[in-house]
Amino acid sequence: MPNSPVFAHTPATLHQLLAQLNQLPHTTQFFVLVDENTSHHCLPIIAHHLPQPYHTITLPSGESNKNINNVQYIWQQFLMQNADRQSIVIILGGGVLGDMSAFAASTYKRGIKFIHIPTTLLAMTDAAIGGKTAINFGDFKNVIGNFTPAYQTIIAPFFLKTLPFVQLLNGFAETIKHALICDKNMFEKLPKNNTFFQTQDINFDWLMPSVQIKQHIVNHDFTEQNQRKLLNYGHTIGHAVESHFLTTTNPLLHGEAIAIGMIIENFLAEHLQILSPNDAHTANNFIASHYRHILRTIHYQNLEKYLLQDKKNQKTNINFSLIASIGSAVYDQFATPQQIQFAITQYNQYVGQMT
Ligand code: GLY
Repeated sequence: MPNSPVFAHTPATLHQLLAQLNQLPHTTQFFVLVDENTSHHCLPIIAHHLPQPYHTITLPSGESNKNINNVQYIWQQFLMQNADRQSIVIILGGGVLGDMSAFAASTYKRGIKFIHIPTTLLAMTDAAIGGKTAINFGDFKNVIGNFTPAYQTIIAPFFLKTLPFVQLLNGFAETIKHALICDKNMFEKLPKNNTFFQTQDINFDWLMPSVQIKQHIVNHDFTEQNQRKLLNYGHTIGHAVESHFLTTTNPLLHGEAIAIGMIIENFLAEHLQILSPNDAHTANNFIASHYRHILRTIHYQNLEKYLLQDKKNQKTNINFSLIASIGSAVYDQFATPQQIQFAITQYNQYVGQMT
């Protein structure tokens, strides 16, 4: 079972937590994995408080770099520095760096300990919690990976102040997802439009409840046999949308694709008579109030190959987790291509009416 994340609300608390790593018995070496952004914006905040000496490994940022070539680069660096199973890897970054570095650490010498210090909202609310490691392979997102719990996850919300608006919105989609699948009360308290993110002093008071929802679910079902599947709400369509647009000159960020995925899946749930028209309307208008600027026409034909490859399918049935009301969801719901096409048509009409 994964350890619960620890919150460090101030740099001083984070420094104390890092200082405790020096006390860990038998540790031979520390590796700090960063990308070019966290190397510049985040590493300097903690560099003097990390266990000394440590080796820094810098990876390129961006979803297209979450691949086996960069995993090989990490393994080579570990080998060159004689990393052994008593080494500890500290991953300072967002979801791409986190998924890929955790995969490299979890497979090197059958697994060495890794600590996530997520620096993006997406990684704090989702990627760094729950032990999923992954890389992309060919055009397919996250098809190679495993479940390995992090030794520790430290959430330091002050890193979010370094993020541009677009990256905050990227992570907020997972918070909307958590509220929609589990917590109506939380949904009603979420900020109603994204001007909220453009102010200087965001207090992120929905961050801890969002993290707690995810942690609660993975505590009960770490390897996604049952209720963890609920976290895939918005992701069956969302991953296909993300994968398709990654092959174009107009890619979407993960959270943006998930926002589209949630809206289409709400139309699907309504069509399958799982979700009432009223709740579908409420959820879709809320999502659109934050993501209107990225909503775009979707063609089923562009998604088909990705939908058929989804890890959660059973034979040719495409598996969905869908909301059944605001604050509750069901998993293992299957839909036919015709039903999915119908939902996409509804979504395209909905987006068309906005312009
Ligand atoms: N991102 C979904 C999960 O961790 O299960």
